[in-house]
Amino acid sequence: MTISNEWIPIVQVRDASIATKWLGKAIEVRGWVRTRRDSKGGFSFLEINDGSSFGNLQVVAPNALANYESDVLNLSVGSSVIIKGVLKESPGEGQSFEMEATAIQVTGHADPQTYPLQKKRHTFEKLREWAHLRPRTNTFGAVTRVRNRLSYSTHQFFQDEGFFYIHTPIITASDCEGAGQMFRVTTLPLDKLPIKEGKVDSSQDFFGKPAFLTVSGQLEGEVYACAMGKIYTFGPTFRAENSNTTRHLAEFWMIEPEAAFYELPDNMALAERYLKRMIRDCLQDCAEDMEFFDKMIQPGVVETLQLVLDKPFEHMSYTKAVEVLLASGQKFEYPVHWGADLQSEHERYLTETYIKGPVILYDYPAAIKSFYMRINDDQKTVRAMDVLVPGVGEIIGGSQREERLDVLLERMAANGLKEEDYWWYLDLRRFGSVPHAGFGLGLERMVQYVTGMVNIRDVIPFPRTPGNAEF
Ligand code: 4AD
Ligand code: MG
Repeated sequence: MTISNEWIPIVQVRDASIATKWLGKAIEVRGWVRTRRDSKGGFSFLEINDGSSFGNLQVVAPNALANYESDVLNLSVGSSVIIKGVLKESPGEGQSFEMEATAIQVTGHADPQTYPLQKKRHTFEKLREWAHLRPRTNTFGAVTRVRNRLSYSTHQFFQDEGFFYIHTPIITASDCEGAGQMFRVTTLPLDKLPIKEGKVDSSQDFFGKPAFLTVSGQLEGEVYACAMGKIYTFGPTFRAENSNTTRHLAEFWMIEPEAAFYELPDNMALAERYLKRMIRDCLQDCAEDMEFFDKMIQPGVVETLQLVLDKPFEHMSYTKAVEVLLASGQKFEYPVHWGADLQSEHERYLTETYIKGPVILYDYPAAIKSFYMRINDDQKTVRAMDVLVPGVGEIIGGSQREERLDVLLERMAANGLKEEDYWWYLDLRRFGSVPHAGFGLGLERMVQYVTGMVNIRDVIPFPRTPGNAEF
């Protein structure tokens, strides 16, 4: 059999509105066997999945096939096949069309004695050990398609709104968030570090100074916003946080829009439009995957997301949120008081119990937020905003930026940041300074929110967490 390049994705074969044109005609599909069932009537049923859709294509393989005994009867879960056949209306339940095979070529068998993904269900913990095989399961196929749709929506949304996609560096010398969670990048010999005056001599390092993996593209994003007007970044970010939670990764993907002449309310409205666009696209274009999440992962998730689309997001100041938490009568592990950082138990109470939906908190105490956020006239709070959603907590963090040079210099000094390290960032305030604002959305947290997947390790292909960088 020669390999043509005219095979059809199963998602199209399963879509009656597309596939009708192939009815009665010879077509070819390619994929992996999910199940095989042999019938006494002299044929076998194969369920084939090629990743293009949640559902499989049913293929009927008659024993008249030349390699029926030698190949078809040996097909096991995970084998890869190229199948030519005729598309027919299916008499069976559960599918409109099926394929009657005229030729089956096995490109790779999968030994049932050793192939880990047998029909029995595996826990997500177990599947993490098989991160190279788990995309072949229903759940991870669905997560992968949803993650793809969210990424695609991101580009569509920002492009439609006139934002330019820019690439910010992955290696950087400046700490955007100032939280001391950066991974060091070095080519210095770790067993023989050059020492000068009792300290590592970084002038001998690759970049001539200490360098790190970025925690955020924001500062460089601001540079471009202050020239292009509206920009967004979409790239990997790295944080050496030693927190083993279901919502933290050491490597995650962040989308960061930044817009000149935006103030906090513009920023909030942008975040709301963006989140709603992604939800709408997912419900519409990943309907079959979303039905699966609704049935097997988080009952009710589809209806909940639908409701989110219909209502404006609630807004609440940090100060009000603290009052609500104090009046809640709830016993929290971390006590609440004005000035304290909100913990995930507080965020979840606010979104899940009090608001029962997404909420945008704003005007946080300056002391718990980053140096670049614009200080309010009360001198105590900054123009920060966090978007919190049920099940996940913080999904977006953002702010209006401090555009006044003198105020920014004061804030940097108070945070122990050196002017000379940020000279270019400060120049944005020296030359044609503008009010501007932006935010960061954690892509993995968005996937969690939309799918209901509990653990962030299960919504990124190869999770990096403390003690784990396999694959
Ligand atoms: O709130 P964060 O730290 O904000 C920033 O980095 C700003 N520079 C963004 C900006 O204004 N341009 O992070 C933004 C989002 C969080 O809301 C969360 O969704 C996600 O990034 N995030 C993480 N996701 C997974 N693992 C981690 N360790 C994360 N840390 C933050
Ligand atoms: Mg944050």
